[in-house]
Amino acid sequence: MITVGRISELRETVKAWRMDGERVGLVPTMGSLHEGHMSLLTTARQHADRVIASVFVNPLQFGPGEDFERYPRTPEDDQRLLEKAGCDLLFLPSVREIYPDGGQSATRVTVESLSQILCGRVRPGHFDGVATVVAKLFGIVQPDVAVFGEKDYQQLAIIRRMTADLDIMVQVIGAPTVRAPDGLAMSSRNRYLTPAEREVAPRIHATLRAAAERIEGGERDFARLSAWGMAHLQAAGMVPDYFEVREAGTLREPVAGSRELVILTAARLGKARLIDNLRVGLH
Ligand code: PAJ
Repeated sequence: MITVGRISELRETVKAWRMDGERVGLVPTMGSLHEGHMSLLTTARQHADRVIASVFVNPLQFGPGEDFERYPRTPEDDQRLLEKAGCDLLFLPSVREIYPDGGQSATRVTVESLSQILCGRVRPGHFDGVATVVAKLFGIVQPDVAVFGEKDYQQLAIIRRMTADLDIMVQVIGAPTVRAPDGLAMSSRNRYLTPAEREVAPRIHATLRAAAERIEGGERDFARLSAWGMAHLQAAGMVPDYFEVREAGTLREPVAGSRELVILTAARLGKARLIDNLRVGLH
C-alpha cells in the first residue's frame, strides 16, 4: 500500500492504473477505522481492481461546538488496518490540500430538502459539508465505484442524490451496517462512551428492532411509534434527537402505499451522539 498526501501524486498513480485498464474503487472515511469501515473495503474490492481509502477529518461537516478538535485520530492504526485489508492506496491529505483557503470552500454542494430533515435539522450545514467533500473526492479520484455504509443512511441517500443530480460518473454502492455482537452499530464515536454508557448503547438497536416488530405486527400510527421510541430511549438514559419512520428510498413520510420503510434515530449518550437505522419491508 502506498500513502499519499498530495492530489497530484494520487492522480498520477490513478492515471497509471487506468492506462492498464484497471477499475478503481474509493472508500471515503474520517479514519479511526473499525470493522464497519473494513467491510466497505471488502465490498469495494469486489467491484474494483484497485481500492483507495481516504482518511480526512473534514472540518466543513462539523458545526461550531461539535467534536472536530477531539474527533479520534489514529493514523498509525488506520494505516496498519488498511494495509492488512489489502488497500492499494491511502489518501491522507492535509486540510490545506483539500481546502487551500484553510478549512473553507467558496463552492458548497447542497442537496436541498434531504439535507434539512432528520440529522440535518439538528446539525445545520453538516450535510453540505459532507456533499462538498465527497464531490471533491469524486473529482480528485474519479473512481468507477465508491462505497458508503448504510449506517449513515441519510448521508448515503444524499450522496446518491448528489451523484445523480450532478451526473457524476461514479457508481455509489451502499454496504450493510456492521454491529458489535450486542447490536451496537460500530462507530468511531463509540470511543467516547464510558463503560457504563457502552452497556446502555445497544438499547438503540434494541428499540429499533422493537419498533420494527410493532410495524410488522400492524402498527401504522407512526407518530405514536415515534413518541414511543423517544420515550424508550429517554428511559434508558439517552437524549434522543429524533426517532422516525420514513420511506426507505426517498426519506419522505410514509403514505398508505409505502412498502419499504426505514426507522431512523439519533440519540446523545454522554459525550457521544449515536445514529442508527433499521429497514422494514411491508409485504
Ligand atoms: P466515517 O464516519 O469515517 O465513515 C466512513 C464510512 O464508513 C461511511 O460510508 C460510513 O457510513 C461507513 N460506516 C461507519 N460505520 C459503519 C458501520 N458500523 N457499518 C458499515 N459502515 C459503516 O461518514 C463519514 O466518515 C464522512 O461523512 C465521509 C463520508 C467520509 C465524508 O467526510
